Amino acid sequence: MKVYFVGAGPGDPELLTLKAQRVIAQADIIIHAGSLVNPAVLAWARADAALFDSSSLTLEEVVKIFSQAKAEGKTVARLHSGDPSIFSAVQEQIEHCYKNGIDFEVVPGVSSFSAASAALRQELTRPGVSQTVIISRLGGRTPVPAREALSELARIGATLVLFLSVDRIGEVVAQVKDSYGTATPVAVVERASWPEERVVRGTLEDIAARVKKAGISRSSIIVIGPVLGERGERSLLYDPGFEHSYRARG
Ligand SMILES: C[S@@+](CC[C@H](N)C(=O)[O-])C[C@H]1O[C@@H](n2cnc3c(N)ncnc32)[C@H](O)[C@@H]1O
Repeated sequence: MKVYFVGAGPGDPELLTLKAQRVIAQADIIIHAGSLVNPAVLAWARADAALFDSSSLTLEEVVKIFSQAKAEGKTVARLHSGDPSIFSAVQEQIEHCYKNGIDFEVVPGVSSFSAASAALRQELTRPGVSQTVIISRLGGRTPVPAREALSELARIGATLVLFLSVDRIGEVVAQVKDSYGTATPVAVVERASWPEERVVRGTLEDIAARVKKAGISRSSIIVIGPVLGERGERSLLYDPGFEHSYRARG
């Protein structure tokens, strides 16, 4: 018996890992996260697998399924959107497993911010522009520690990637524009990797109006930073003059 916490990717079923596909195909029980996990990934599930949509369940109900599965010697695939390492509420489930002696494993997945970067055809780090990516969100019902307020993070000037915040894009802009400057480019990617994916580009001056006009209010990644607008310098990694352990100079 085992519980697998599986990163089910950003939406496109082809962005599941091979391991995630195998775990889904073998599981007795599959718990999937409502609207953000593409139901198409369930096509690999066994016909007799028991399916639960976690969007209608409490944490207590989810972990009860784990405990029952343990008693019955069944395998559970607990699917989370994107990668479980960020904004997935997986840790409290992991703690339940530790406390109750339930064997578990975490299977990483492709995060939606990676899918957003792919949709933008944009590397998030460029030499000479930014070598740091900050992943964060606006505080909502889940508060953000004061030291991590967007206005504080913006002072660094790095590439800023925001989850769970597009519904308050005006507030995002208000918190970061003094540090970045209003001409700084911004991109919003809605439902990255899904057929209905949309990209809205602008600057801190006009992005709030553009997002509102497009009617985007959820399931989006916001990327802010000069990396979106500057060509930067080429990376040294493939520079003929740069020697490393796998390649001699020249
Ligand atoms: C609960 S968090 C889950 C994040 C997930 N663990 C990940 O790595 O992508 C949900 C938020 O992730 C972002 N998100 C998830 N899937 C997305 C997608 N396909 N395109 C854009 N944003 C997405 C949105 O900001 C959404 O509000």
